[in-house]
Amino acid sequence: MAVTDEQVRDALRRVKYPGFSRDIVSFGLVKNVAVTDGSVTVQLALATNDAAVPRAIKADAESALRELSDVREAKVLIDIHAPPAGAGAAGAVATRIEGVKHVIAVASGKGGVGKSTVAANLAVALNQTEARVGLCDCDIYGPSIAMMFGSRDRPMATEENKIIPIEQYGLRLMSMGFLLDDTSPAILRGPMVTRYTQQFLRQVEWGELDYLVLDLPPGTGDIQLTIVQTVALSGAVIVTTPQEVALIDARKAATMFEKVNVPVLGLIENMSYFVSPDTGKRFDIFGSGGGEREAKRLRVPLLGQIPIDIATRESGDRGMPIVAEARESAVTAEFVRIASQLRAQLN
Ligand SMILES: Nc1ncnc2c1ncn2[C@@H]1O[C@H](COP(=O)(O)OP(=O)(O)OP(=O)(O)O)[C@@H](O)[C@H]1O
Ligand SMILES: [Mg+2]
Repeated sequence: MAVTDEQVRDALRRVKYPGFSRDIVSFGLVKNVAVTDGSVTVQLALATNDAAVPRAIKADAESALRELSDVREAKVLIDIHAPPAGAGAAGAVATRIEGVKHVIAVASGKGGVGKSTVAANLAVALNQTEARVGLCDCDIYGPSIAMMFGSRDRPMATEENKIIPIEQYGLRLMSMGFLLDDTSPAILRGPMVTRYTQQFLRQVEWGELDYLVLDLPPGTGDIQLTIVQTVALSGAVIVTTPQEVALIDARKAATMFEKVNVPVLGLIENMSYFVSPDTGKRFDIFGSGGGEREAKRLRVPLLGQIPIDIATRESGDRGMPIVAEARESAVTAEFVRIASQLRAQLN
């Protein structure tokens, strides 16, 4: 039995693009498959500056092909070209959002580490420097920005069918939470999520902005990939706690951005410590020094350390981020410091 093109493509579906959970077939990297007398030749095309990427893909693809029965010889040829500036993996060109100077993604590998809290407060802190700031909640499955800003408004659309952001505390906000009902489960799957996310990102009428902060869902899956391939990012900020499990996932997120040529602007360590309000004693609840070690390892700045803080959690739940609510709080001061560091890095 001779091996078929289809079997070859199926085997290649087991090969993941380095740093992503997505495979090289669905990425569109496979340009040609030729099978003659048990000898398979596969042609791939990819846009990358990182020599390790084609090397890893070639090795993985060849070994996946050799596992097929009736394959005598497997050859993987890779056509590599340099990606255009701002291009995502596989050469998909991410486009700038018209009128927006800098797009910053707030990401994490692990869920629940405080991305949305950080994104919200960072956006408010940037806004206090007289910059025009937008904040976009890209979490389709668990949007939280609408709640953190206490807004139940429904956005309106322009005549060209573009969605107009909601204004709150001087910021322009857009969230899936504005478009979905609290009760309606987001039942979008796979390719639908990709299309929905792209459409969502392209259809918001942001107007002129100095900074657009994107609050990403946790992980390094399809949604994150779609986002980094749709929008040209100035950089990414990675949120982690000092705990090892979070740091490992933060590293994965950093690798993902590296692979698609998006600079990692730095790490923010959240839930770094807790200071007891009555005794002033400090507790390192999730351990200490993790963020600093990881930042060194990734060769990126540790932008700041946010303590576990009851007022921060309460203000988020109440619908007004701590930076907007309490100017004198230590957490506010830390976010203001992080914001000015980011501005310096970007401008
Ligand atoms: N520094 C902090 N101090 C106290 N509570 C915090 C702090 N940071 C975040 N929280 C709380 O922890 C919970 C999770 O935070 P948040 O929703 O920002 O995380 P996330 O990383 O966006 O989560 P997800 O991965 O689900 O998107 C929230 O209830 C938030 O109020
Ligand atoms: Mg979140």
